[in-house]
Amino acid sequence: MEVAKRLGHENLGLGLGLRTPHFEYILKNRPKVDWFEIISENFMDSQGRPRHVLDQIAEHYPLVMHGVSLSIGSTDALNFDYLEKLKKLALEIDAKWVSDHLCWTGVAGQNSHDLLPIPLTEESLAHVIERIDVVQDVMERSFVFENPSSYVGFTGSTMSEWEFLSRMTQATGCGLLLDVNNVYVSARNHDFDPEEYIRAIPHDRVVQFHLAGHTDCTTHLIDTHDHPIIAEVWALYRLAHELTGGVSTLLEWDANIPPFEELHAEVLKSKSYLRGEGVQGPVAEWEQEQALKAEGKDKLVAVSPHPLHHSVVEVE
Ligand SMILES: [Fe+2]
Repeated sequence: MEVAKRLGHENLGLGLGLRTPHFEYILKNRPKVDWFEIISENFMDSQGRPRHVLDQIAEHYPLVMHGVSLSIGSTDALNFDYLEKLKKLALEIDAKWVSDHLCWTGVAGQNSHDLLPIPLTEESLAHVIERIDVVQDVMERSFVFENPSSYVGFTGSTMSEWEFLSRMTQATGCGLLLDVNNVYVSARNHDFDPEEYIRAIPHDRVVQFHLAGHTDCTTHLIDTHDHPIIAEVWALYRLAHELTGGVSTLLEWDANIPPFEELHAEVLKSKSYLRGEGVQGPVAEWEQEQALKAEGKDKLVAVSPHPLHHSVVEVE
């Protein structure tokens, strides 16, 4: 299928997930953020204050919709009522694109409220392709799917997640939201090479990146979206940026949400890479740390504190 690069979507720049604690700040200060991503479900059924705020923000910033309830991998019937509401909201706020996750969230009418991994098999690939075709027909636009972070897999899986995503996009013309942190989290949890993943996906179908922090539980990582981005994820982001030519980048932060300026500063760290100013910031320090470790001089690192160890101010 012939599909325009990035589905014809422009690079919106560096964006932030729109979260309730920042509504007042944004309305009052109109910060110089390139774009915002909203959680679709937070606004679909709301005609109250959240929707009023969203309409005001939509007048000044490009918006993208990101959902958590499509459940594209489930064997339950698609929820056409949900799709119609999604479509209506997308039209009303002029959403640049609409995304959700490659996952299932429930079955037999029961919602797990979690983004669960799907078996990576020919059968589930055919199932997902069939459903994406329907979703795109109803929405009258190409949909965008995000690679999930996962903690368990299926012994019956017969292909890698990157092969699944590649074939899925090829068959449906859908776009990809590459969550770089999710690749890193899943790579650690399932012991695969995150670079191989990022090199293997179809780069011209990547419409957007997600960046986020996670929690390291030593034996496994959890995608908690409540920490700064770690150096290894910045390094993967740099690789993804090189391979795609650069696409809209979004920082997700969903718990212990810091003040707006702090959140904004975190995503602005990627500017040095986007401007091609060379290696700067946390990646440079991490690479220096690795080099020193390799030389057996890692004790020198303690002389200057690593920026990633700075704590994040918590907001009650
Ligand atoms: Fe994400």
